[in-house]
Amino acid sequence: MRKLRNGVMMPEIGLGTFRIKDPDTCMNAVGHALKIGYRHIDTAQMYQNEAFVGEAIALSKVDRKEIFITSKQRHHMPLEDAKKAFEETLENLQTDYLDLFLIHWPNHDKEVNQETWRFFESLYEQKKVRAIGVSNFQRHHIMDLYETAHIKPFANQVELHPGLPQLALKRYLDSEGIMTISYGPFMKGGVFEGHYAETLRDIARKHHATIAQIVIAWGLARGIFMIPKSATDKRIEENFKAKDLVLDSSDIMRINESSRGQRVYTDPDNSPWGIYKHYETKKSV
Ligand SMILES: NC(=O)c1ccc[n+]([C@@H]2O[C@H](COP(=O)([O-])OP(=O)(O)OC[C@H]3O[C@@H](n4cnc5c(N)ncnc54)[C@H](OP(=O)(O)O)[C@@H]3O)[C@@H](O)[C@H]2O)c1
Repeated sequence: MRKLRNGVMMPEIGLGTFRIKDPDTCMNAVGHALKIGYRHIDTAQMYQNEAFVGEAIALSKVDRKEIFITSKQRHHMPLEDAKKAFEETLENLQTDYLDLFLIHWPNHDKEVNQETWRFFESLYEQKKVRAIGVSNFQRHHIMDLYETAHIKPFANQVELHPGLPQLALKRYLDSEGIMTISYGPFMKGGVFEGHYAETLRDIARKHHATIAQIVIAWGLARGIFMIPKSATDKRIEENFKAKDLVLDSSDIMRINESSRGQRVYTDPDNSPWGIYKHYETKKSV
């Protein structure tokens, strides 16, 4: 567990649920994760699986207060629609509050991000969420948010893996008291083969661990929250055990230095989710 800036405790390892749309697969993965000790689940309105995550949590009989649930607003939208979507998220997850709610992608227009952030701040003030944050925000998006924000984001969830260690962004987020959450830790399979696997396999051998565990332990050692996705019971277990691994600082440096600065997900500055159709037509950009 690590503390967010406001004192809320957040488990360092969570289960990612992106692309687990099948109800049984999703309920099994979340149920199994909770059974073996995960207490942090990452979902999003965009994943269309909040209802299955909610059902699995309800069936697990684990006390809601023990579980840290993150979700993300699908896209920027007018206030009334955003309120409705948030209420649906709560209903789907069978809860009356979220632990962390994130803006999923920055808009290319800073005023849109600022408008959405005001809604997020109101949710926080009403105690409907224990923490609010952003995702896929570059430093400049955060600085733009500050022009009108009353509350700084508590976390930023970004693409982060051995191919993209995000050293500069992480340093900036640390200086602002914003926690970093890594998504896509396995680089869409890229860490298991070729250039990255060579270094990681070497370190894995030394620690009697797997490549997946080394990647997770590398993130944890850097103070980053890790949310690997798996729908396979054995891998869900394997990934969770990474919390007990302690890497040497030389291992961490080696992984950092193996980076070729490679994104395997979407570039936030050019993402299709940065366009807010309602807003764009209103402003005729
Ligand atoms: N904020 C954002 O914009 C954003 C974007 C992408 C992702 N995310 C979040 O971050 C989470 C993680 O990212 P991701 O799902 O894209 O990718 P990921 O966690 O890097 O990789 C998932 C893939 O790795 C496999 N895998 C898992 N554990 C493994 C292991 N121990 N050994 C070998 N293979 C393993 C999984 O297969 P099996 O499932 O078959 O085991 C799956 O194919 C997502 O689920 C989501 O919650 C957020």
